[in-house]
Amino acid sequence: MVKPFIIGTRNAKDMLVKGAEILKRGGSAMDAVEAAVNAVEENPLDRGVGVGGTPNLLGVTQLDASIMDGRTLRTGAVAALENLVNAISVARKVMELTPHVLLVGPGAEMFAKAVGFKKGDLSTERTRKIREAMTTGDAEMLDDPAEKERFIRMWIEEDRGKWYSKMTEEEWGTVNIMAMDARGDMCVGVSTSGLGYKLPGRVGDSPYIGAGNYCDNRFGSAACTGTGELAIRLSSARMIVSYLENGMSLEKAVTKALKDVHALEDKTISCLAFDPEGNTISGSMTGESIHYYMDVDSEGPEERKGIWVKP
Ligand code: GLY
Repeated sequence: MVKPFIIGTRNAKDMLVKGAEILKRGGSAMDAVEAAVNAVEENPLDRGVGVGGTPNLLGVTQLDASIMDGRTLRTGAVAALENLVNAISVARKVMELTPHVLLVGPGAEMFAKAVGFKKGDLSTERTRKIREAMTTGDAEMLDDPAEKERFIRMWIEEDRGKWYSKMTEEEWGTVNIMAMDARGDMCVGVSTSGLGYKLPGRVGDSPYIGAGNYCDNRFGSAACTGTGELAIRLSSARMIVSYLENGMSLEKAVTKALKDVHALEDKTISCLAFDPEGNTISGSMTGESIHYYMDVDSEGPEERKGIWVKP
């Protein structure tokens, strides 16, 4: 019998305690994952998730998130969600209260408010400054839809570097958290503000079930961070779980998924995964990888080394 445990990416380290407390009380993997992801979403210092998430090209923070239950394969997701802090909780409600899997943009926001979520402010001093920088000298532009379109055209048709030179560097950040409870049920949750300065409406892998997120009690759990477009093209999280289903070890499954990315192009993703025996792993294409682990007997988060998958 595997001890109930929870794991997460580097930015989840201190937040895993929230999930581990729930597992210690005999709670479900899904409640543990949701609580730990919520804590990351509410941390204004995390620049890639929830409050303080780097805005898009129009200075607006848009969130993507998904959650999946490994027993039933039920899942819920939201994309391009504005004005709500706990995107993972809205995703869970999509799963529990609708016959759908994914709600996007204003529809997702409308749904969230209808089921009782309060409007939230995702901005911080930093994101407000970014927004100002992006609109300096042209502030009125963004109030006019036609001018917004022109802004986007400039970004696409002219040298993208010109925009970046006015801003800070491109930023990524996503949180992956997954758990197994005393019943052997698995859950995985992913939440992000996506690519910093992204084109408005751009959606990454995090809310795509199979790309950024997948779990199945029989075989294991996987999630991704990094260049979401690549994880979408390769269905990376689903492939890792499929590789496990087909008998590969956890390390071989993650290695194969990352080598599949190496074969495509120079950009990269990272992965986090575990198998039903409770083995955990993280994999990076760019350097040493680490993740954090807590089980029901842990006093605090334990750092675990993952693998560096070179081409
Ligand atoms: N992996 C996060 C994103 O591409 O948005």
